[in-house]
Amino acid sequence: MIQGDRVVLREFRREDIGPIHQWVNNENIIKYLAFPLFPQTLEETTAFVERQLQKKGAPNEGIFVIALKDDPKLEYIGSIGLHAIDYRNRHCELGIVIGREDLLGKGIGAEAIRLVLGFAFDFLNMHKVNLRVYEYNERARRCYAKAGFKEEGRIREQRYYGGRYWDEILMGITKEEYLTLRGTGRPREIQDASWIPGTKGTLE
Ligand SMILES: CC(C)(COP(=O)(O)OP(=O)(O)OC[C@H]1O[C@@H](n2cnc3c(N)ncnc32)[C@H](O)[C@@H]1OP(=O)(O)O)[C@@H](O)C(=O)NCCC(=O)NCCS
Repeated sequence: MIQGDRVVLREFRREDIGPIHQWVNNENIIKYLAFPLFPQTLEETTAFVERQLQKKGAPNEGIFVIALKDDPKLEYIGSIGLHAIDYRNRHCELGIVIGREDLLGKGIGAEAIRLVLGFAFDFLNMHKVNLRVYEYNERARRCYAKAGFKEEGRIREQRYYGGRYWDEILMGITKEEYLTLRGTGRPREIQDASWIPGTKGTLE
């Protein structure tokens, strides 16, 4: 479990099936996602959750449930995951959804992303985290920019939505950029040098 100020990232539980099934058929949410077909059956949602519980055959992805810290039941409100984790080149792709329309645009996404970037860079030792976002998803683009992601390119006219084609935007953040944003240009263990023999606990 990863705890932030308002947000907790926790493991999947079987009781998450209900809240997930509510948003997977909500057009206002899935219009922003690369969802294949619509609507999704309860059996499909159940199978997704069962896969998360077993984590069978998915060594290259890790998905957390997003919950609110002040909710004693830590009920599912969304999920955030690192996909296509490449342990040689040390990059991965971030995906996020908050499934509750009443909770969008309240800073929860930004905090969940900060927490998962900490996990990606400090724990998994990733070098870079990438993501893809549709051009018309202004809320997400703003949230990603706030979290430090930079636009790196566009796949032109990749998404059909609302009667026209839109670009898919590629964004990314390096570990160095993340550390700089966090207020230090150095990894935590170097900033605090007391563990290095022969130093007085600080590094120039
Ligand atoms: C994308 C998502 C995770 C962002 O999380 P969030 O908690 O809603 O975002 P935040 O509140 O942290 O940040 C959103 C920013 O966009 C702004 N915003 C909110 N609604 C907006 C809108 N309709 N249009 C443009 N900007 C908007 C907010 O003011 C905020 O910026 P600010 O902090 O500078 O004021 C969430 O909205 C979501 O899950 N959406 C549905 C699914 C989705 O789009 N997933 C991402 C697919 S790439």
